[in-house]
Amino acid sequence: MSGLVVAMDGPSGSGKSSASRGVARALGLRYLDTGAMYRAVTWWMLQRGVNLEDSAAVAARSAEPVLVMSTDPDAPGVTVDGVDVNGPIRGPEVTGAVSAVSAVPEVRHRLVTLQREIIAESLPGGGIVVEGRDIGTVVAPDAPVKIYLTADAEARALRRTAELDGTTVEAQKSAMARRDALDSTRKADPLAKAADAVELDTTPLDLDEVIAEVLRLVKERA
Ligand code: C5P
Repeated sequence: MSGLVVAMDGPSGSGKSSASRGVARALGLRYLDTGAMYRAVTWWMLQRGVNLEDSAAVAARSAEPVLVMSTDPDAPGVTVDGVDVNGPIRGPEVTGAVSAVSAVPEVRHRLVTLQREIIAESLPGGGIVVEGRDIGTVVAPDAPVKIYLTADAEARALRRTAELDGTTVEAQKSAMARRDALDSTRKADPLAKAADAVELDTTPLDLDEVIAEVLRLVKERA
């Protein structure tokens, strides 16, 4: 296999997105935000009035939404059935519902298949940085570089609060704790650190320091 795959996993607010984009830019690689894919499917299900508490109903419609991903680290994004959903998928409605949708095995199977296709297409061009929850464990278990980003709950909530309008650190802390608990205890492909991943605690680091550390690991491991 030619081309590099960098797997970046970790809980919400650990700094995955900014770091992954920065690393992709620095190395001239593509970038895939797999969380945006689960969010886009969730948006689509909400639009169609699917009851997200009913996993059979979610599973039954999981093959319908057509996702197209931009893997440009300078302009990442997703469309669903041709609709640009990059704004709405970051809103509280989707954020509050996405863990229920991403726990449905049929949804995961479809998106993991699509993620692997996107990764394979990127390899001749040099490779890809992929961020998510199960990249090192499930989507790309052979990735030569796997990073598991963490940060303490206060730091993660502070970062998220700075990115969003009209929220508080306390509200973010409890919303993130709820989402991380759901994501790490679900049966299908839970959030987990791969045995061969390097854990990087970003609490005391700024973005440039996180990127520099990942680039150092890439140099060492790839
Ligand atoms: O990374 P982000 O916070 O945008 O991810 C949104 C949600 O998508 C996560 O809380 C999780 O439920 C789901 N997800 C997942 N597997 C991935 C990426 C995201 O289950 N690889």
